[in-house]
Amino acid sequence: MHRDRIGTSPLLPPQAFDVRFTHMTESGKEAREAEVSGGGPLVVLENVNKYYGELHVLKDIDLTIHRGEVVVVIGPSGGGKSTLCRTINRLEPIDGGTIRIDGKALPEEGKALAQLRADVGMVFQSFNLFAHKTILQNVTLGPIKVRKTDKTEAEQRAMELLERVGIASQAEKYPAQLSGGQQQRAAIARALAMRPKVMLFDEPTSALDPEMVKEVLDVMINLAAEGMTMVVVTHEMGFARASANKVVFMADGQIVEENTPGEFFTNARSDRAKDFLSKILTH
Ligand SMILES: Nc1ncnc2c1ncn2[C@@H]1O[C@H](COP(=O)(O)OP(=O)(O)OP(=O)(O)O)[C@@H](O)[C@H]1O
Ligand SMILES: [Mg+2]
Repeated sequence: MHRDRIGTSPLLPPQAFDVRFTHMTESGKEAREAEVSGGGPLVVLENVNKYYGELHVLKDIDLTIHRGEVVVVIGPSGGGKSTLCRTINRLEPIDGGTIRIDGKALPEEGKALAQLRADVGMVFQSFNLFAHKTILQNVTLGPIKVRKTDKTEAEQRAMELLERVGIASQAEKYPAQLSGGQQQRAAIARALAMRPKVMLFDEPTSALDPEMVKEVLDVMINLAAEGMTMVVVTHEMGFARASANKVVFMADGQIVEENTPGEFFTNARSDRAKDFLSKILTH
């Protein structure tokens, strides 16, 4: 069951975000936009189709994500946003088309697939930390097991990352002892520990209490400003305005519109997007 999140997510009118993100200068985004043009595409989806039985969930998806680019995916519930993310790291197979990461087609299975998954970090709505491992162990597990990093080195790097997301003091605790916002920041640190080429975020703040949303978004804004390539499913328009290079509007399994955040939120081209925005902006 997919609940309709319109009206239930902690959406604020756009002007509220202008205050919320005043610390975010335009310079990071501009610097990234300059970089973006240099590197060539990192993730390329061509004519991707996917079915769940009879249901055509992804319809002829073409999407190019450049290095350092931040793409926000937005759209009504059931439109295929999560499925799109899950196909990019092959948690879900596709039925047609191609997905290439850094020039390489997604492998079917085996070692190459594990390697690819390591290149694609993913942060979900629910935190998915291992409950019986400490935060530090959660962050070092992937590097030790998959990247074969030495334990001391993995722990050193993990502590740096936990420092960066502001929860170094929580390293020895278990997930259940942390707040939702802290757990989500731990999940981000865990994904970053694999040194991914691209980070996928699927509604990373929608399960959080409102007061914890900002601390997670701040981490993501910093990550974007540092040049991480990111695909972010979110209805947080403040994040989109502050950090996105482009907004992809998805509905009924299709990319209906790709636009700059500025244009999308003030001057959407498609009626479907205008209709969607009129609903979320009135709440
Ligand atoms: N494992 C599955 N098996 C069958 N159908 C599925 C499965 N996962 C998703 N679907 C269906 O595929 C469609 C797209 O779902 P998806 O989760 O990608 O949408 P979404 O845009 O992420 O929605 P939301 O905003 O609610 O998270 C929906 O109709 C959903 O019910
Ligand atoms: Mg979803």
